Amino acid sequence: MRLGFLGTGEIAAAMLRGLKGQGHDIRVSPRNAEMARILAAEMPGVRIAPNEEVVAGSEVVFLCLLARVAWEVLPGLPFRADHKVISVMVDAPLARLRAVCAPAADIAIAIPLPPIAQGGCPLPVYPASPVLETLYGARNPVLPQPSEAALAAHLGVSAICAPILDQLLAAADWLAGFTGDPRAAEAHVAAMIRAYLPQRAQGGDMAAALAGLSTEGGLNATLRAAMRGARDDLRRGLDGFRDRLGLPEGGA
Ligand SMILES: NC(=O)c1ccc[n+]([C@@H]2O[C@H](COP(=O)([O-])OP(=O)(O)OC[C@H]3O[C@@H](n4cnc5c(N)ncnc54)[C@H](OP(=O)(O)O)[C@@H]3O)[C@@H](O)[C@H]2O)c1
Repeated sequence: MRLGFLGTGEIAAAMLRGLKGQGHDIRVSPRNAEMARILAAEMPGVRIAPNEEVVAGSEVVFLCLLARVAWEVLPGLPFRADHKVISVMVDAPLARLRAVCAPAADIAIAIPLPPIAQGGCPLPVYPASPVLETLYGARNPVLPQPSEAALAAHLGVSAICAPILDQLLAAADWLAGFTGDPRAAEAHVAAMIRAYLPQRAQGGDMAAALAGLSTEGGLNATLRAAMRGARDDLRRGLDGFRDRLGLPEGGA
């Protein structure tokens, strides 16, 4: 497939690395110049081209720009009606993308995360995108969403990664205070949490894991009760995204 990437920053690099070995003909824009050079050297089939050529020479165009840059750059590029466009940009609603990428109309918004480079990264998308499934579906769970609001909620929930990691680090730090070995403490906490997370959680798997940790008077149940406020803080923080993400009233 002929693929183009506009914007060669952190997320574009991860998405490109996630395509390694698939044999696509890929054009990347020259910015970030250093990253574009590294990727072209690292992956056969990747070449650097001006933005116009990235669009003109591709069947599928990935938009990996900052949104404020995109609104300036995209209207001048040679989009065609037969292009498939996949935007990964935050703060870039579908209606505005349709306006700046016209006459291209086959446009989807996806939410990749940097671990897509290795695979196993959840990939919510709206509307459903068969080409995204073809390119990434073998190594990542692609999750089509019923509405743009549902996709925005997925974006909101992706923000739990930092606070959860922060708590895990606090626990590892506490442990290292007694063992004197910060590396082993971090390895232990990471392995323990990994072991508890189901590989492919179906509805109910996480609740079942939690139930297994709920022995009355046990250490897990005791710490959970002591931290009850943290659960409310999480809900409040996620609710704080409603305006920014355009989430409807009601919902959760
Ligand atoms: N990073 C993530 O984890 C992540 C996850 C999901 C979605 N996103 C979204 O993906 C988009 C990119 O994020 P990022 O983290 O990859 O940002 P980034 O590392 O700053 O990448 C943006 C890229 O756009 C390039 N650029 C600037 N002006 C350009 C132009 N006129 N033509 C072509 N390229 C141009 C920049 O090059 P210079 O460095 O030369 O300016 C840079 O390489 C954002 O909208 C973000 O919301 C990011």
